[in-house]
Amino acid sequence: MNTQTIEQNKQQIIQDNLVFMDGISVRFGKVVALQGVNFSVKHNEVVGLLGDNGAGKSTLIKTLNGYHKANEGSIYFKGKQVSFKSPKYAREAGIETAYQDLALVNLMTISRNFFMGRELQKNIGPIKVMDMKQMDLIAAQSLSEVGLRNIREMQETVNFLSGGERQAISIGRATYFGAQLLILDEPTAALSVMETEWVLRLVSEAKDNGLSVILITHNAYEAYAVADRFVVLQHGKNYAEINKEDTNPKDLIEVIAGRK
Ligand SMILES: Nc1ncnc2c1ncn2[C@@H]1O[C@H](COP(=O)(O)OP(=O)(O)OP(=O)(O)O)[C@@H](O)[C@H]1O
Ligand SMILES: [Mg+2]
Repeated sequence: MNTQTIEQNKQQIIQDNLVFMDGISVRFGKVVALQGVNFSVKHNEVVGLLGDNGAGKSTLIKTLNGYHKANEGSIYFKGKQVSFKSPKYAREAGIETAYQDLALVNLMTISRNFFMGRELQKNIGPIKVMDMKQMDLIAAQSLSEVGLRNIREMQETVNFLSGGERQAISIGRATYFGAQLLILDEPTAALSVMETEWVLRLVSEAKDNGLSVILITHNAYEAYAVADRFVVLQHGKNYAEINKEDTNPKDLIEVIAGRK
């Protein structure tokens, strides 16, 4: 292929995908966490991002959302090159990330966590104050839509919530604020069987609502249940990319383990 054709192909990939990460390398001192990784997410697609411990999965999504800076490579979101200064900027652009532990602020209320960084305000005379009542109402409504029904008090802090409830808040928040991409980094790692089913159902619902999702998990069965495509990393490099129709959970385990 000549250079012009390669460039045309690349432009096509950029336009066809919601996310395109092109040749991403990330180093932490001497540790090479990612080396020339390509990664894409289509519109309305659920991608299972898989790989063994230390493969570079978290680093990849944290590079996408601006938590880390890439040493090499380019990132495109919605057809434009981006380089988010922090996850806050990524959120504003439509990328919501839920980490297992860092997604919510423990000592803040459910309602404040739901609105974090996007608080509603109202005027009392010349003074602007947070509109707690309205925020409580909207949070309660949106969270009941993701199945968080047994929480009545939006002013309670989130530290008593279960892992599943926390994930539900992150997912409900993404949907309410119109995110186009939801990133879930091992959302089910500490969940019970019932809560895992709930979170996986929410992932499918997010897709039904038009979102794209990056789901990081160690569980091939979970990934297989909800993802359309699988991207497997190994030692910071692309290892395999498989469509759902070409694989099954047992096969995926073999690939993740590097035996296939
Ligand atoms: N902040 C950091 N400083 C130094 N090294 C890091 C940092 N973050 C990640 N690494 C290293 O980069 C590599 C990739 O780590 P990463 O957390 O992305 O892997 P992972 O695929 O998410 O693994 P896991 O499944 O265990 O979460 C590992 O060798 C890790 O030790
Ligand atoms: Mg990780």
